[in-house]
Amino acid sequence: MSWLPSLHADTPEEGYEIAIKLSRMAVKKTQPDDNARDRMRPDYANNADSLTQVSLVVATNFQTVAKANEYWKT
Ligand code: HEM
Repeated sequence: MSWLPSLHADTPEEGYEIAIKLSRMAVKKTQPDDNARDRMRPDYANNADSLTQVSLVVATNFQTVAKANEYWKT
């Protein structure tokens, strides 16, 4: 089963979850070693600038998801 079968989301909130998934998958594909990610998790989880960066990545992906869903206008 594809990890990204569709960008379709019924609501903006559901779309935001897709944006988070896209963002996390980029990290996972870049660093496939689970242990390495586990080790680094406390670094970003306890750093305000890292968390702000995370928000920015998710916001960028959300733009794509929102556009793909025509901004839920209909
Ligand atoms: C957990 C998002 C970057 C490693 C999480 C969680 C979220 C998240 C939402 C909480 C999941 C939950 O408790 O249900 C993101 C986003 C990222 C990012 C959006 C980048 C844009 C990273 C990076 C690393 C990392 C750079 C390490 C190199 C982890 C690990 C967990 C975690 C190990 C714990 C997983 C778990 O408890 O199951 N992340 N993260 N993440 N993240 Fe990230």
